[in-house]
Amino acid sequence: MRVWAISNQKGGVGKTTTTVALGSLMAESGKRTLLIDMDPHASLSGYIGVESAAHGSVYDLFGIGGNPLPVRTLVHATQWDRLSVLPASAAMITLDRQIGTRPGMGLVLTHALAELAPDFDHVLLDCPPTLGVLMVNALAASDRLLVPTQTEALALAGLERMLRSLSMIERSRGKPMLRTIVPTLYDARTHASRACLAQLREQYGDAVSEAVIPTDTQIREASAAGVPLASWPAARRGGLAYRRLLDELLALPVSSMTGAAA
Ligand SMILES: Nc1ncnc2c1ncn2[C@@H]1O[C@H](COP(=O)(O)OP(=O)(O)OP(=O)(O)O)[C@@H](O)[C@H]1O
Ligand SMILES: [Mg+2]
Repeated sequence: MRVWAISNQKGGVGKTTTTVALGSLMAESGKRTLLIDMDPHASLSGYIGVESAAHGSVYDLFGIGGNPLPVRTLVHATQWDRLSVLPASAAMITLDRQIGTRPGMGLVLTHALAELAPDFDHVLLDCPPTLGVLMVNALAASDRLLVPTQTEALALAGLERMLRSLSMIERSRGKPMLRTIVPTLYDARTHASRACLAQLREQYGDAVSEAVIPTDTQIREASAAGVPLASWPAARRGGLAYRRLLDELLALPVSSMTGAAA
């Protein structure tokens, strides 16, 4: 089982879109795929159409005020073959306050995923924008971090901030986190997009994916309709870019123990 965290502290850069797009392409290619909504805003759960109120959420893994619920009871099939989801709920926003300094809470997701290892080939974690217990859990559980980065000037400052937070977490986890920066919302017609992509490549080199995700209004249409990209043929440009990204990601080293850190 491979676990991918999709994260950037900046909002609206394509985290949820990337999680659903890659997950739906993995499922389409025959892989059993689980999307986990780690963001209390629950955009991914809304996109896929799973109501957390009815189904339980990531919150219930933490056993606040009772016993944690078994992770299998929180995982739900979707209407798309081989694509499952573990939803988010608004209550997750209170986790940091409720957990405080209780020990062991950074590995709750890691332990839950160990139980699910026989059931899934890929797990994708749509991370929250804040650096709290949910983010710490996501990074601890994942093999590779994907950082969708909007190709516009302000995004580079956001990326710097994100990478600084990551260094802090890496120090506590004791091993480097493999990472891939994914340029998103690219518009080749604008100087700002082209300049930002060039700067990303210059500054971060091989850590930036070759695949660049263009701005494609059909991607927005697909999410508004609640349909994953793999099932939305009109998003040709966006679909092709995400397919290229997936091929590239699957060819990368799986763990920092077996390959060079990005
Ligand atoms: N490549 C793209 N082309 C066109 N629209 C896109 C693209 N990627 C994302 N969008 C749209 O941009 C908006 C923000 O994307 P998304 O929700 O994936 O970002 P996010 O980083 O998850 O945001 P948040 O920080 O709010 O969780 C959505 O309306 C989405 O449909
Ligand atoms: Mg999101």
